[in-house]
Amino acid sequence: MNKNFITFEGSDGAGKTTVLKRVFETLNGSLETPVILTREPGGNRISEMIRNVILDRNNEEMDPKTEALLYAAARRQHLVETVLPALNAGKLVLSDRYLDSSIAYQGGGRQIGYQAVYDMNQFATAGLMPGLTIYFDVPVEVGLERIAKHRSVDEVDRLDVETKAFHNRVHAAYQQLVHDNPDRIVSVDATKSIDEVCTKVLTILDDYLNRSVK
Ligand code: TYD
Repeated sequence: MNKNFITFEGSDGAGKTTVLKRVFETLNGSLETPVILTREPGGNRISEMIRNVILDRNNEEMDPKTEALLYAAARRQHLVETVLPALNAGKLVLSDRYLDSSIAYQGGGRQIGYQAVYDMNQFATAGLMPGLTIYFDVPVEVGLERIAKHRSVDEVDRLDVETKAFHNRVHAAYQQLVHDNPDRIVSVDATKSIDEVCTKVLTILDDYLNRSVK
């Protein structure tokens, strides 16, 4: 576990990415510790290329295990190139998604199994876990409605267009992760307004960072 490594998780349409940008701007201007905001799958050239392969809607024939391996590969490159150097330099790393996404989407959504996906990812992560994970909780219907409203046809990816049953399984997996990891994962009600969610997330981060220093 690395206390300076903080991840953000949630189903599609939870508003995570919008909130994170604002949270990052606030923290960046107020903390002495340098902060970086990065995302999975992506954050560097190779991972962005892998991301394009995974999320391309033309890749309909992709096998679930291939998908899980590609996410793990993108994760490995992201760790080596972006996360670990920043942590080693004493920075605070905020990552939009990490291993829990694979457990929820590939383990739950694609039904590969939570444990199988966790185990397979150990090769990629060498056991690195975040000190804190903030989970943006939103009912599946609300998330899907937001995607339909706010994303153009070009922005909708291969996972967004999955069935409602798939998104239900992703949501159920996240609930299980929250239940199983009470010391690491804090859940935030993401049905609230962007302003309210930002305030809540900043409070959680503030508490966590003050606790960590002591
Ligand atoms: P993205 O457009 O970044 O979604 P969001 O803005 O909601 O985070 O696309 C990332 C997609 O990849 C998203 O649907 C979740 C999925 N994903 C997995 O299925 N497994 C993973 O391990 C990760 C990191 C993401």
